[in-house]
Amino acid sequence: MSVQSDIRRLTAPDIRARKGGEPIVVLTSYHAHTARLIDQHADVILVGDSLGMVMHGLESTVPVTLDMMILQGLAVMRGSKRALVVIDLPFGSFEESKEQAFRTAARVLKETGCGAIKMEGGARMAETVRFLSERGVPVMAHVGLTPQHINTLGSFKAQGRDRADWPAILADAKAVSDAGAFSVVVEAVAEPLGREITQSIPIPTIGIGASPACDGQVLVLEDMLGLSPWVPKFVKRYGELGSHIADAVEAYAKDVRSRAFPGSEHTYAEKKPRA
Ligand code: KIV
Repeated sequence: MSVQSDIRRLTAPDIRARKGGEPIVVLTSYHAHTARLIDQHADVILVGDSLGMVMHGLESTVPVTLDMMILQGLAVMRGSKRALVVIDLPFGSFEESKEQAFRTAARVLKETGCGAIKMEGGARMAETVRFLSERGVPVMAHVGLTPQHINTLGSFKAQGRDRADWPAILADAKAVSDAGAFSVVVEAVAEPLGREITQSIPIPTIGIGASPACDGQVLVLEDMLGLSPWVPKFVKRYGELGSHIADAVEAYAKDVRSRAFPGSEHTYAEKKPRA
């Protein structure tokens, strides 16, 4: 017996089939309320390990744990109905061996009910991508700037600024595509390289600071909403939530201090959903 829901979620094969078609809308979310809002417009919701920086104020994604990813992944699954939810495998949870990667990915799929995982790495992870894909784990790969490597990279700088580095990045994208990834994030690479990768591989490329020619784009939600204290140069801001929150908090503090706070005539029962 199977349990059916009315709304069918997008699947990894649905996204794979969008190669060269309608651009794929991807946004990050780490919690239920934002997932609910995003779900109306995005094809994929990425529970990225950027949550370490955005939610926890960490300096990099390196300290993020699998338990953190699963907890926030569950919240996003509860908040969304339609988008494919993809959860990042955090640093240290998959690189050791393909078996370790499978165990981690299986735990993520089983405990959250999400539809796919994302894993940083190109050619060096291709064998693992194949192992997982052949065993029922849809993999979104991630090439170009791989932030989990901050300690060997030294900084979050764009990759492929030197043309001599292009063939290796292109080879990374080809390797994960050949290994069975259903899509690949291409992060912070020179625009012509992002375009070339997109034209050279049969799976959708999801760009972030890469090229408008990519098959889709991803942004960190808090960056595009103006909530993050700093954002990479390529991020277009679609809101100024940071200053809205600061203004609202200031107004609230003023109300509390002047005793102009709403009283018991406003009951919880009167509350209506906003959207
Ligand atoms: O962790 C993340 O949010 C990501 C995206 C920026 C691609 O990997």
